[in-house]
Amino acid sequence: MTKQEEIAKLKAEKDAVILAHYYVDPAVQEVADYIGDSFYLSKLAQGLTNSTIVFCGVNFMGESGKLLSPTKKVLMPDFHADCPMAHMVRKEDVERYRQEYPDLAVVCYINSTAEIKTWSDVCVTSANAVKVVRGLPNRDILFIPDQNLGQYVAQQVPEKNVMVVDGYCPIHNVISADELRELKQAHPKAEILVHPECPKNVREMADFIGSTSGIIKYATENEGQEFIVATEAGVSYELQKKNPNKTFYFPKTTPICPDMKTITLDKIIHVLETGENQANLSAEVAATAKLPLERMLELSK
Ligand code: 13P
Ligand code: SF4
Repeated sequence: MTKQEEIAKLKAEKDAVILAHYYVDPAVQEVADYIGDSFYLSKLAQGLTNSTIVFCGVNFMGESGKLLSPTKKVLMPDFHADCPMAHMVRKEDVERYRQEYPDLAVVCYINSTAEIKTWSDVCVTSANAVKVVRGLPNRDILFIPDQNLGQYVAQQVPEKNVMVVDGYCPIHNVISADELRELKQAHPKAEILVHPECPKNVREMADFIGSTSGIIKYATENEGQEFIVATEAGVSYELQKKNPNKTFYFPKTTPICPDMKTITLDKIIHVLETGENQANLSAEVAATAKLPLERMLELSK
């Protein structure tokens, strides 16, 4: 039996469904029932009828799946797959802002631990951050932990006082404007598509800024034949599948998220067989951390 056949058999036996982020290895994306960006996957998790969800991505994704579907068994193929940015804010900093700005809304990127979500008023993903922040009644906003997405939101919603902390994605933050300039010189017809986790000088070069699914949609619907893509290289699998005749260029220091790439077919088989690596949160954390996620889903309707 191939690994793919083994996974299909185990899925049927365990009433399981496999969700994968665009950044995981293509071999994992191939066995997934659903592939998407953080927003799509978190919304989807709530509506699924299977009793078990295998979440192929980093920890905060499995945790968010569990927070939104508490009665389900949520399996994470590798507990070590952890987004470094998900920890990049301190409680005392959030408390300091809360004291200084009595009407503050703490807006938390979904790329954060469940504990950080408990300090927050609402979550966002890169696909809905602008819409959610614009719809909040508060004028003073503290955006945690990603400074780049936070600054992007601040530019898009100038009527609000959006403040940021100093977290960043180590993969997107090192994509450089120079690399994109070189690519643009070599391929002048190519449009530049940028994830908002990239730094300001990279975002300034963009023809389009959006989440991973936004980038895929733009490239698929646009008539252009060549695109320069500033995000993690895992999206090339879906980009190429949807657009076999178009060409996609990535920065030469190819952006790869090592945590996303730790998910393998063997690890999926292992958690399906054993039921190990269940996302489990204390009742206290779960009760509070799910509220900003639910508010996000409500505000992004
Ligand atoms: P999106 O899934 O919102 O595009 O975010 C990318 C990311 O970094 C996920 O870890
Ligand atoms: Fe975290 Fe960046 Fe990896 Fe996304 S790409 S999981 S933000 S380190």
